[in-house]
Amino acid sequence: MNDEVKKGLLGIVVDETEVSKVMPEINSLTYRGYAAQDLCAACRFEEVAYLILNKDLPNSIQLKKFEKEERENRELTKNLYEIINHMPKKSHPMDVARTAVSVMGLEDKETSNSSHEANMRKALRIFAKTPTAIAAFYRIRKGKKIIKPKKTLSFSENFFYMCFGKVPEKEIVKAFDVSLILYAEHSFNVSTFTARTITSSLSDIHGAITGAIASLKGPLHGGANEEVMHMMKKIKKPENALKWINEALDKKHVVMGFGHRVYKSGDSRVPTMREYFKKVAKIKKDKIFEKIYDIVEKVMIKRKNIYPNVDYPTGPTYHLMGFDTDFFTPIFVISRITGWSAHIMEQHAANKLIRPLAKYKGSTHRKVLQLNQR
Ligand code: SDX
Repeated sequence: MNDEVKKGLLGIVVDETEVSKVMPEINSLTYRGYAAQDLCAACRFEEVAYLILNKDLPNSIQLKKFEKEERENRELTKNLYEIINHMPKKSHPMDVARTAVSVMGLEDKETSNSSHEANMRKALRIFAKTPTAIAAFYRIRKGKKIIKPKKTLSFSENFFYMCFGKVPEKEIVKAFDVSLILYAEHSFNVSTFTARTITSSLSDIHGAITGAIASLKGPLHGGANEEVMHMMKKIKKPENALKWINEALDKKHVVMGFGHRVYKSGDSRVPTMREYFKKVAKIKKDKIFEKIYDIVEKVMIKRKNIYPNVDYPTGPTYHLMGFDTDFFTPIFVISRITGWSAHIMEQHAANKLIRPLAKYKGSTHRKVLQLNQR
């Protein structure tokens, strides 16, 4: 037996996938063969969600049907609204999202049916309902009345509407849509691998997505978009940025929103998201965070040769859109549900229990003493 330890599964290929391809050597990312930035330019988020789940871009009839189903499934049960209403107001919204998906599993009639057809139906329901649950908590914890989903609005428009009671300018909605497209899928990242690992024991999709949400919450993964904003708020003014970042690096701190396990010379999603961050900053007439962004990025590349990942531009973009910082990672969730679901179905279709080995380094064999002898 080869007992070489590959901590963090560094560089290990554990399975095959048709969902997406990350190509660090050419700074590119494709979903089902389409470049992510081309999808951002040509499609709305719903089209990309359909692509990820159904393996191909929809024609107009397929899109209409998919959108109709998504819109018709947005509403939560009275029970789930009540549960969210009773959650501690100080809860992190990621924990609320995690619990909400878990409750959806208790309420779903098909929870124990993991056939492909049932998984597609459940994926659609989780995709449609999770934004409603997150937005409901957004309102509840501010002491505001819940705003029910509206069927006439697109996925992104509806999320803004449920949080703020209105839909912003179409350029802002487009920037949000682009962020969702860029967040939708990224191969065997931590949360997707978590979802696939849960699925590999033939567990159900609600459980796998619940686990994936817990995994995404961590600051080394999706939680980084919130940490980026905390950092920018600490820096406060562009004049402070140079000193702040140099001190952070002198103290060997990890700078959030930078670095990536796979991309070593830049995250393929950053240029597109940076462009939309700029557009949003212009509309909001607030360039402070853009200036801080550029200074910190320049120093990170110059001193460490470490590049931003997608969480670096999404953090300040969501802030300028008006979202509370702790809702940034839940926004990542509402998009990544598509990627997770596709991987869960792929895992089910060609399953092999995921069960790696560990090299034991604990005590050698010890004699058990009776309780009165210890
Ligand atoms: C996402 O994988 C995906 O696909 C994830 C994701 C997705 O779409 O699902 O792309 C989304 O999770 C993006 C990553 C968000 N996380 C952060 O922004 C947190 C900050 N970044 C890191 O801690 C780090 O870069 C990781 C966790 C992202 C990657 O970690 P690795 O591959 O385990 O690398 P490492 O931590 O061992 O770092 C290697 C070296 C170290 O220096 P040395 O010990 O070799 O001298 O690079 C340094 C690190 O200290 N380093 C950093 C750094 N990132 C790496 N130093 C300062 N700041 C950083 N951000």
